[in-house]
Amino acid sequence: MSDSPSPLAIRTIHRSDYQPPDWLVETVHLDFDLSLDATTVSATLGIRRNGSHDRPLRLDEDGAIPEVIRVDGKAVAYTRDSGQLILPVGSETATVTFTTTIDPSANTQLMGLFASNGMLCTQCEAEGFRRIIPFVDRPDNMAVYTVRMEADRAAFPILLANGEKVAEGDLDDGRHFAEWHDRWPKPSYLFALVAGQLVANRDSFTTASGMDVDLAIWVRDGDLDRTGHAMQALKNSMRWDEQVYGREYDLPVFNIVAVSDFNMGAMENKGLNIFNSRYILADADTASDLDFDGVEGVVAHEYFHNWSGNRVTCRDWFQLSLKEGFTVYRDQCFSADMGSEAVKRIEDVRILRAAQFPEDNGPLAHPIRPDSYQEISNFYTATVYNKGAEVIRMMATMVGPKRFRAGTDLYFDRHDGEAATCEDFVRAIEEGAGINLSQFRLWYSQAGTPHVTARVEHDDASGTAALHLTQTIPATPGQPDKQPMLIPLRIAAHDRAKNAPGSEQLVLLGEAEASVSLGRFSEPPVLSFNRGFSAPIIAEVARNPGDLAWLAAHDDDPFARYEALQALMLDTLVARVSGGDASHDAVVAAVGNTLASWASDPAFVAEACALPSEAFVGDQMLVVDPDAIRRERRALQRSIGQTHEALLRTIHAGTATNATELSPTAKGMRKLHSLALMLLWASDAADAPALAFAQFAQAGGMTDRQAALGILAHMDAPERQTALDAFYARYHDNQLVLDKWFTTQAFSLRADTPEVVAALAQHPDFTLGNPNRVRSLYGAFAGNQASFHDASGRGYALLADLVIALDPKNPQTAARMIPPLGRWKRFDESRARLMREALERILETPDLSRDVTEQASKSLA
Ligand code: ARG
Ligand code: ZN
Repeated sequence: MSDSPSPLAIRTIHRSDYQPPDWLVETVHLDFDLSLDATTVSATLGIRRNGSHDRPLRLDEDGAIPEVIRVDGKAVAYTRDSGQLILPVGSETATVTFTTTIDPSANTQLMGLFASNGMLCTQCEAEGFRRIIPFVDRPDNMAVYTVRMEADRAAFPILLANGEKVAEGDLDDGRHFAEWHDRWPKPSYLFALVAGQLVANRDSFTTASGMDVDLAIWVRDGDLDRTGHAMQALKNSMRWDEQVYGREYDLPVFNIVAVSDFNMGAMENKGLNIFNSRYILADADTASDLDFDGVEGVVAHEYFHNWSGNRVTCRDWFQLSLKEGFTVYRDQCFSADMGSEAVKRIEDVRILRAAQFPEDNGPLAHPIRPDSYQEISNFYTATVYNKGAEVIRMMATMVGPKRFRAGTDLYFDRHDGEAATCEDFVRAIEEGAGINLSQFRLWYSQAGTPHVTARVEHDDASGTAALHLTQTIPATPGQPDKQPMLIPLRIAAHDRAKNAPGSEQLVLLGEAEASVSLGRFSEPPVLSFNRGFSAPIIAEVARNPGDLAWLAAHDDDPFARYEALQALMLDTLVARVSGGDASHDAVVAAVGNTLASWASDPAFVAEACALPSEAFVGDQMLVVDPDAIRRERRALQRSIGQTHEALLRTIHAGTATNATELSPTAKGMRKLHSLALMLLWASDAADAPALAFAQFAQAGGMTDRQAALGILAHMDAPERQTALDAFYARYHDNQLVLDKWFTTQAFSLRADTPEVVAALAQHPDFTLGNPNRVRSLYGAFAGNQASFHDASGRGYALLADLVIALDPKNPQTAARMIPPLGRWKRFDESRARLMREALERILETPDLSRDVTEQASKSLA
């Protein structure tokens, strides 16, 4: 294994330094002799000089070093320099051969070839392939792979790799082999193999052009009956991509494998997607509606990568959003089509605001196409993924679905088989859809969330109204000055006097300041702004409670109705947290008004009436006061709960109907069921513990059960521990459900949560070896604002301890825990000092990984 680099040796990679590879590997033959702790890989690489030069071959390496490397059969002396093997090659083409030996069971980083629960699998994106063999391990090197695997048949009966199986058979001593060939040239990050004791849910799909595809979802024995939702999602995705983008699948087999130890959500390896089991396994007893939606969304996401990622891949990792932003946009649209478009949009914006806005507003802010990095794993971010998706969505909004499709058709046709850039995508949309995107390109290069102010001016004398807009983009690290961007804003001006909504227009704001005529109105119109969240901005609209309440009740855009009610709640909370005594009345009345229509649109009502999170309230403030936010949020919930107690009881009783059906209405009913319970608890109703425990104990599915447990976890009543114990007893053998048990306690609003989390970290079921388990405890805790930001600083110390303990095992997952500590500028002096101390303590740790060093040092700056 390679030595950890000292911080001084960490190099910064710049996008502007891109050079094509000097040598290309065009064919790859790999021969694996697989075992859990000593796997040998014999490699034969067909290489070609790329252009006319006399530079040596450079192979990226990360610990798997061959003893001998042969070029055309002759051993060649090589040198080593900062992560590369350098060897002279005299001819234009050559065959390079060598053998490496690796220990998958010692691979706790879960990058390259690793062992999980007795099986072997790979994760190569972004730079894991070089942990298997030295290689031109960059996405602009595309090669055709043939993979032979040999292993003990009893331990590894199933042998899978990319593409199609071309041979298999028995060998001596209980061993067997399989050979796979992938006809599609691909970059090394899409290489995959799996070996283990697996069983398959098999199905088939016939493409639009009539090719039959064998589908299989591989899981451990016992998990088979939890793969149905994933299979349905896969078939729906395959059809959807044909219908919406004209993209068909291109191999006769498509395999998916679920593994329990996985750093991220899933991976789109060609023909062999590998998944974190939490995004495959789901049934009503163990998975909540959120989990079911996660399965559907991630299965679709990875499938869609077959075109947006695999057939057209990325030239270099700075282009990551080319495949991730576009693919997130595609999976969002797919899920909207499978369920409720309005609810899906609300959820996606909630995620953007919770995960991406803070990133864009902090020390780790970067453009969706970054300019530099130290460790690429740190750039699999909400900015690259989710803001990246918003940028694609804005293009689609500006040109409409037909022209957007013409643009993506041109993109896929023009770049099929290539490693492309974000610029290639933008140019294809420009040409295919017929739009000038010169100014719009700034969305790729400028970080920071634009602030847009909107003010309606009404001239009584002439009876006309105008909208005055301004935009500013805050400074971000390395980008002190910003240029105005092109911001597509869907707006409408409603005439409260007439009872019909105003017609919508698309305003393209391209200047720092602009004015738009809204037409004739006898009184000032009510502005419906950034409808559908057409642009990922922070809107600062001069607004009053009366207008917001009216919009919440009457706007014809469901997102705008949601937004109005949220804004009303937010304004009230922020005013009170800042020391004002703003009345609850307007919010309580507006919520009551929305609740009244619960039966006709339960999902929307549940979204709209849920209070903004503590963190989102904090994001509105110059200095976050976590304790005041928790207190005021609870107080507002109490007012709502007390005023509407009777209605909430009706809703709670009336939504307890269907425990497992997955229709949008049934899911909405369940969401509303638990929202009602939450508000009844917040109202201090004496029977709240009993009501919550009854919902917990009688739940027909995990959605109701988990939500009830979450509410019980906030309480002091004895039902709390009874329920937690019952949940543990019932599910402690199911790792994915046990994660929920940890998360539920880490999310508790109780004052003792930091100690509870510290105690859970010592629980026998807690382990640093499983990323899901780490996130279930510490990821949840860091998202529990007032508990994590406990004034004592013990929350920060807990997280720093975790990062320090985890880094030597799994630097990628350790580094992902750091950003919450980097928000210190937004907190009071005492908390800021404690947060900085935690970051400094991390940085003082010897032999820190590149991943953690980059995130911690940038977070301190
Ligand atoms: N490409 C994967 C996706 O679909 C993410 C894999 C990244 N994995 C990693 N270890 N960096 O989003
Ligand atoms: Zn992806």
